[in-house]
Amino acid sequence: TPKKSVAVLPGDGIGPEVVSAALDTVEKLKLPLEFRFGDIGWDCWREEGDPVPQRTWKLLEETDTCLLGAITSKPVRETEAELAPSLRGTGLQYVSPVLQLRQRLGLYANIRPVTDLDGGRFDFTVIRENTEGLYAGIDVHGLDEPLWNAVRHHPNAAASGPEDTSLTLRLQTRHGIDRLLRFGFAHAEAHGKRLLTVADKPMVLRNSGNLLRERLELIAQEHPDIETEILNVDAVALWMVRRPERFGVLVAENMFGDILSDLGAGVMGGLGLAPSGNIGDHGSYFEPVHGSAPGMVGKDRANPMAMLLTIAQMLGHLGLDVPGEELRNAVRTVARARKTVTYDLGGTSGTREVARAVAGRLEEGAARSAESTP
Ligand code: IPM
Ligand code: MN
Repeated sequence: TPKKSVAVLPGDGIGPEVVSAALDTVEKLKLPLEFRFGDIGWDCWREEGDPVPQRTWKLLEETDTCLLGAITSKPVRETEAELAPSLRGTGLQYVSPVLQLRQRLGLYANIRPVTDLDGGRFDFTVIRENTEGLYAGIDVHGLDEPLWNAVRHHPNAAASGPEDTSLTLRLQTRHGIDRLLRFGFAHAEAHGKRLLTVADKPMVLRNSGNLLRERLELIAQEHPDIETEILNVDAVALWMVRRPERFGVLVAENMFGDILSDLGAGVMGGLGLAPSGNIGDHGSYFEPVHGSAPGMVGKDRANPMAMLLTIAQMLGHLGLDVPGEELRNAVRTVARARKTVTYDLGGTSGTREVARAVAGRLEEGAARSAESTP
């Protein structure tokens, strides 16, 4: 079989450390993969005025999927000052690289599994819409005539005036909802989940909530084996803490999904354990949910498990399910033992040490299966 290729974009902060430690571990699996490294993030913005340079888009086109380390997010007003002097005042606009990847590659489903590493008590997947909702980019401060007309009747807007009013629109489209729900059902079927929960706020967002309900009822008919429900997003947050085992697949619009998936990470023990995959019909990229943790850089403190679990998820996507499962199990074993773990799991081990412990488990596994093969 021909080798699959992976674009590796280590990015900012602890990104390069966790990528490098995790890839050393993954070498033990002797995978039929070619890793091709590329640039993304703040260095690219500073020096080239573009956090995702053309050569990186080209690399993404040439490869089967992408593994991303981490990206530092900064408030927009700080971005101009970061630019090399020659690039300042040229009107360049910083747009978060992850948002660019999701939008331009049409990666509409963000899959964020929430699994109990210790007891197997819960195991569900947040599937977050990744291209519309409050992230659609209709976000203005100081309203022009048409937008002002839409809100001028609100007493608070009237008391503030168009210049001191801001507005963000939550875009929801039949196209966006349908493909997300279809993806959610397919994921539920592929993973043996019987319940698909949609987190929304239908009592308040009455009209957009109705579109979602209509589409859900329609598409659910194509999947009679899967039960569906629409719950209020606040109630979902409560249940996720109280009874996470009740969920199977949890679908939510972009911002709700963003918040719920961090909550999910908290429920499973922190961002150090949370993987994600961004999937579209013609592309994908995988990244840990955690950020670039600038304060942790170079200290050998970051937990590499989120990155290792992210790679496991990526392997499944590439059809390498068996090594993906081996890697996931190795991480779980090391995490459960709580012996070689980073500070966030109560340990004192460093990034490299944890990655090596996982590699050790993989080697033991390989030795065992060699013994049992006649
Ligand atoms: C995430 C992050 C991003 C998001 C930020 C960095 C733009 O929080 O991947 O969850 O909001 O989607
Ligand atoms: Mn987030």
